[in-house]
Amino acid sequence: MERPSAAAADDRVVVRNVLGPRDRHAELARDVRDGLTGPVKEIPPKYFYDARGSDLFERITAQPEYYPTRAETEILELHAADFVSDVGAHVLVEYGSGSSTKTRLLLDAMHAQGTLEGYAPVDVSEDAVHAAADLLVSEYPELQVVIVVADFDAPLDLSFAGRPRLIAFLGSTIGNFTPEAARRFMVCVAEELEPGDGFLIGFDLVKDARELEAAYDDAAGVTAAFNLNLLSVLNRELHADFDERTFRHRAFYDAGRARIEMHLVSEIAQSVRIADLDLEVRFEAGESIRTELSHKYTPESARGLLEAGGLRIRRWETDGSARFAVALAERR
Ligand code: SAH
Ligand code: AVI
Repeated sequence: MERPSAAAADDRVVVRNVLGPRDRHAELARDVRDGLTGPVKEIPPKYFYDARGSDLFERITAQPEYYPTRAETEILELHAADFVSDVGAHVLVEYGSGSSTKTRLLLDAMHAQGTLEGYAPVDVSEDAVHAAADLLVSEYPELQVVIVVADFDAPLDLSFAGRPRLIAFLGSTIGNFTPEAARRFMVCVAEELEPGDGFLIGFDLVKDARELEAAYDDAAGVTAAFNLNLLSVLNRELHADFDERTFRHRAFYDAGRARIEMHLVSEIAQSVRIADLDLEVRFEAGESIRTELSHKYTPESARGLLEAGGLRIRRWETDGSARFAVALAERR
């Protein structure tokens, strides 16, 4: 399905909806049934990002405890021109683009080098990606945007996008995949790269547990609101009756697995009804739903992941405090 964006400033924004609303409902229903009836209760993090969830994520990035966005911005401010010129990129494809805020540093560099032609944001959050695209075409007069509303967990056909191409995956969103899914994702990215194309990926680095846990439990309670918003998504989309007031946000660092886990903990013993699934889910007091994994990397584990997918690092840049890294990789 391909059509001009109704909200777009002009015809420089085109939309490719890979998933229609019915497919999305069916997928959410399947994921929630599987996730809440297994031995460990779990819901995939992609369902955080309705319009409110995307706004809350943007507010998280401004919290003093949430350093990844500032650290990655610092790296892009210093090195975007090198990343872009190493590839000579004419087209930027971005997975999980959200508000496309940091993306502007890459688009600015492409514009300054006279190569900027196209941008293809790939994201499940339709609201966020439309708002971002409409702003971008008004800021970059030469830019053509192809919005891809799709799940990047599944292989995607990017043959519409020109080359040389830089594929970006910022924010350390790779950390939200299971290790197995991360490896599969790298293989898919490698298949999309031809000689001369580049893959730019952000990695949040292993650090002190207190600093990590604070980043996922900010004092203003924005991350807690982001986590709890998932229950509103389930109430609205699946006609469930979760009472947000009976669940609390919990985030902890598992140093052995080098990952933050976010949970929603039921404070009371209760049953929740999910009407669209015709399902009652029982929670004991203290029992939780795991809502997100956020893996942290060392330079070695990041290199290992890229290499397992058939990629090789060309550049590796960190911020001044070595909290975050951005790698430019290519197909081996
Ligand atoms: N790149 C931005 C936004 C990160 S938030 C930044 O670095 O700040 C993660 C983004 O990935 C959100 O916009 C969310 O909607 C999107 N996302 C999460 N899971 C996804 C999936 N499976 N498929 C496509 N997009 C996904
Ligand atoms: C999008 N992703 C990389 C964020 C992270 O840090 O794992 C999502 C997030 N969850 C809580 N705070 C931010």
